[in-house]
Amino acid sequence: MSISCSLYRLTIDPILKSLRKEVAALLSENCTVIELGSGTGAQACALADRCSRYLGIDLNPGSVACAQARCKEKGFEQCEFKVVDGSSLPFLKDKEFDVGTCTLALHEMQADMRLMVLKELQRVSKKLIVIDYASPLPHSFAGKGAWFIEKLAGGDHYAGFMEYQHLGGVLPLLKIAGCSILSQQKSLWGIVSIVISQD
Ligand SMILES: C[S@@+](CC[C@H](N)C(=O)[O-])C[C@H]1O[C@@H](n2cnc3c(N)ncnc32)[C@H](O)[C@@H]1O
Repeated sequence: MSISCSLYRLTIDPILKSLRKEVAALLSENCTVIELGSGTGAQACALADRCSRYLGIDLNPGSVACAQARCKEKGFEQCEFKVVDGSSLPFLKDKEFDVGTCTLALHEMQADMRLMVLKELQRVSKKLIVIDYASPLPHSFAGKGAWFIEKLAGGDHYAGFMEYQHLGGVLPLLKIAGCSILSQQKSLWGIVSIVISQD
């Protein structure tokens, strides 16, 4: 396992454990799920029991290798991962999946990429569950911690996060993509929004 994969599992995964449980509770039994920006596969492991098929898409080959190894170790044969740019998925049919999800990935992208990824997720999914930072973030210890972690990531990642915050987060993005908001809830001390939407 790569160092970055081990580091993510040791530091970020424990913080996100309760969030992943909340997301799993939103899925119906035996649904099919696609996740864009699936990272090291923690979300896949948390949702796999509720899914008959789970496709994780990520640009980073190291993260995909880590996600594949984790799911294999747990015997989640319904989980598959591909190294692909989430903004173009021509090998998938329209509305092929019951649920399209994206967890804490949109905020690190540039605005045009963010919209392209969301539109492609919308094309291949019947319903969207989008999870990302609340905007604005609360002026709490947790909110300041989120700013700190993103600043630490630096470079394009931090630039994307700043722009995401400036543009108002997930809701305006979903509206631009033409989605109707079905529900929204806050999680993780108010720093994360979970938004469910449909065309
Ligand atoms: C912060 S990680 C989140 C990982 C995972 N969703 C989780 O909950 O642990 C964001 C991931 O999005 C991926 N990503 C960024 N831009 C992408 C794109 N255009 N297509 C696919 N994956 C992308 C990154 O490689 C990274 O693994």
